[in-house]
Amino acid sequence: MNAIEIRDLVKDYGSFRAVKGISFEVREGEVFGLIGPNGAGKTTTLRIIATLLRVTSGTVNVLGKDLRAEPQEVRKILSYLPEDAGAYKNLTGMEYLEFIANFFATGAKADAIVKKGVDIAALADRIDDKVDTYSKGMTRRLLVARALMTDPKLAILDELTSGLDVINAQEIRRMVKDISTRGMTVLLSSHNMLEVELMCDRIALIDDGRIVELGTPEELKAKYGASNIEEVFTRAVKA
Ligand SMILES: Nc1ncnc2c1ncn2[C@@H]1O[C@H](COP(=O)(O)OP(=O)(O)O)[C@@H](O)[C@H]1O
Ligand SMILES: [Mg+2]
Repeated sequence: MNAIEIRDLVKDYGSFRAVKGISFEVREGEVFGLIGPNGAGKTTTLRIIATLLRVTSGTVNVLGKDLRAEPQEVRKILSYLPEDAGAYKNLTGMEYLEFIANFFATGAKADAIVKKGVDIAALADRIDDKVDTYSKGMTRRLLVARALMTDPKLAILDELTSGLDVINAQEIRRMVKDISTRGMTVLLSSHNMLEVELMCDRIALIDDGRIVELGTPEELKAKYGASNIEEVFTRAVKA
């Protein structure tokens, strides 16, 4: 089964068409990357799948459920990490994970969720410090842990490592890749072409609200005789 099926998706903001009829599928268990420059329509597409924005036209199916017919059901099986998410600064990392876990479960089940979150965040003793003492990288790790600790069937991660240094970005990539091997489907966006090449089973190149190419990094590089995805993108957009 496909985790996500999108057909002819269009999204208008007033008279401005941000997404101009895109179609793609994400297979179950796959790490799929939506890649393109700022303003291409990545966040808009992810927010639609996360049920936070209304579709203008087209269909979106998530694990066999129609997004417009059953938004509540779709919401239950996915987890969404916004690109500009923040955590509550006055809580410790641990308290923040506990606070979130309590929306999903109680008692021992909530404890198990928190434990998983602590493992994913990998902040060691700093998990007991207040979030406002965290670096950007530590906060992002906590937020990624928050998004993944509940074992969502589908994780939607917008600009997974935006604003992070190389080491923090690497750790977050490794963490997400690791968890995805346990059967979770991941849809992520990035404007970092190296990142998607490292992480994704398949990628869609998006530019100006349209998908210009889609395939495995290897397929795309072979098709354009390119040595990396940045080159593929440049050639695909010019074509
Ligand atoms: N709420 C909004 N109202 C009007 N235009 C918007 C809104 N959100 C995004 N846009 C526009 O839609 C286009 C796609 O934006 P976005 O989906 O955020 O792209 P990306 O995530 O790829 O950078 C951009 O031109 C952006 O300015
Ligand atoms: Mg964006």
